[in-house]
Amino acid sequence: MGVTIVPMTDSDVEGAAAAIASGPVFQRYGIDQTSAVELLRAARGTIAVAKDDGAVVGVAIYWIDGSVPVPAYLRILAVAEGQRGRGVGRALLRHVEADAYRRGPNLFLCCESTNVDAIRLYEREGYVEVGPMPSFIVEGLTEVLYRRTLGPIRGYVRPE
Ligand SMILES: CC(C)(COP(=O)(O)OP(=O)(O)OC[C@H]1O[C@@H](n2cnc3c(N)ncnc32)[C@H](O)[C@@H]1OP(=O)(O)O)[C@@H](O)C(=O)NCCC(=O)NCCS
Repeated sequence: MGVTIVPMTDSDVEGAAAAIASGPVFQRYGIDQTSAVELLRAARGTIAVAKDDGAVVGVAIYWIDGSVPVPAYLRILAVAEGQRGRGVGRALLRHVEADAYRRGPNLFLCCESTNVDAIRLYEREGYVEVGPMPSFIVEGLTEVLYRRTLGPIRGYVRPE
């Protein structure tokens, strides 16, 4: 896989928005190409894109400046339809983790409870369910909070 993970620049915004807007997952929240562009331009935190041969194939939006009990949070992970199932999502996730664990031992994310592809990826990567949050974002949809931890906050030794 020739995929590289880099910070998003202006010229990546449309491609990153297309990754978010492709497929039904974010469309359930009313996000289309236009609103995904707005979301990316207004988002606080860090945005990383996965690129293959210069083209954006995936995107992650995350915060690593939160406070206890949610110091690091992956807000959006999306891989363009047609590019899924070849390791891009996992590569983005591991990039976010490496960044998050420089600050502390926990990374949190939310996933809609019927999103089986994403849940399978997260559980394989060591995320454990914290609990369900019914109608958290949209009435009738349940978001499940997940956490991947390297251990207790007290005594955590940051990687070099
Ligand atoms: C969830 C998502 C980011 C995963 O990205 P991806 O690039 O497809 O994932 P990967 O290729 O890294 O797959 C990693 C693992 O996830 C699982 N997986 C993910 N998508 C899968 C699919 N469509 N079919 C089968 N397995 C899948 C597999 O177990 C895979 O393991 P493998 O390496 O043994 O094949 C991607 O499917 C996506 O963008 N979905 C729509 C948006 C979304 O749901 N975002 C997450 C919101 S919480």
